Amino acid sequence: MRTTQKTLQKMRDVGEKISALTCYDASFALLLENAGVDILLVGDSLGNVLQGEKTTLSVTLDDMVYHTGCVARGSSKAFIMADMPFGTSQVSPENTFENAAELISAGASMVKIEGGRVMAETIKFLSLRGIPVCAHIGLMPQSVHMLGGYKVQGKSTNQANKLLEDAVILEEAGAGMLLMEAIPAILAKEITKKLIIPTIGIGAGVDCDAQVLVLYDILGIYSGKKSKFIKNFMDGAGSINEAVENYVKEVKSKKFPKSEHGF
Ligand code: KIV
Repeated sequence: MRTTQKTLQKMRDVGEKISALTCYDASFALLLENAGVDILLVGDSLGNVLQGEKTTLSVTLDDMVYHTGCVARGSSKAFIMADMPFGTSQVSPENTFENAAELISAGASMVKIEGGRVMAETIKFLSLRGIPVCAHIGLMPQSVHMLGGYKVQGKSTNQANKLLEDAVILEEAGAGMLLMEAIPAILAKEITKKLIIPTIGIGAGVDCDAQVLVLYDILGIYSGKKSKFIKNFMDGAGSINEAVENYVKEVKSKKFPKSEHGF
C-alpha cells in the first residue's frame, strides 16, 4: 500500500520524523523506498542534476509529467510529490488546476507549489477540488531573479514575521504540507510548532517534521559549490543502498541535520 497524506499526518502527530529525497526515475524510486524513504519528491531540481541547467526555470510540465510517471511506475510504497515547474502555477487557479491534474494523472499524490501568501487562492482552489498541495516558502529557486541569488531567507525580524504569517495563511488556505528551504532553524522550529500540517525542511534545522535533500547531493555527486545543508552520505558507506539507509536512520533519529548544516 502506498503511503498517503493521512499516514504522513499521523507520523507528524505522534512525533515520528519523515524522510524524503528527490527522485527522478524508476530504478532509484524502488531503491529509495526499499531503503525506507517515506516521500519521493520529483523535484524540478532535475533541471540542474539531470539536464545540466544553471537554474530550474527551463523545466517544463512535460518534463515533470515524464519523470513523475517514471517514479510512480518504479515504486509502490512511497508517497510521491511532484513539483509544479516555473510558469505552470502563476497564471490563474484554473490554469494551475489543469497543469496539476497532469501530474496527479502521472502518479503524484501531491503537487508542490513555490510561493507565499500570493499562492493562497490557488492552493484553496486546488485542495477544494481534490488536489493536495505542499506549499514551498523561504528560498524559492524559481524566484532566483527576484531574490538576487540563492540566499538564506528570513534572517531579519521583518522577513521572519512575514514567513511565519505566510505559513499560517497557506495552512488556512488548505496546504497539506509546507516545505521551508534555507531559513534559520529557530524560525523553522517556530513555524513547525504553530502549524498542524507536517513541515519539510531543507536547510531549515532539525525541528521540521520531515527532511528532504537532493538525491545526487547525498550521494556526493555535485558540481560547483556544496551548500552548507548538504551531507554526503556516501562517506563511510559501502553502497548507495547503505548511504540511503543511513540518511533515513539519521533523519528518523534526529542526528541529521546538525547545527553545522543550518543557518
Ligand atoms: O526541486 C527540488 O529538488 C526541491 C528541493 C526543495 C528539494 O524542490
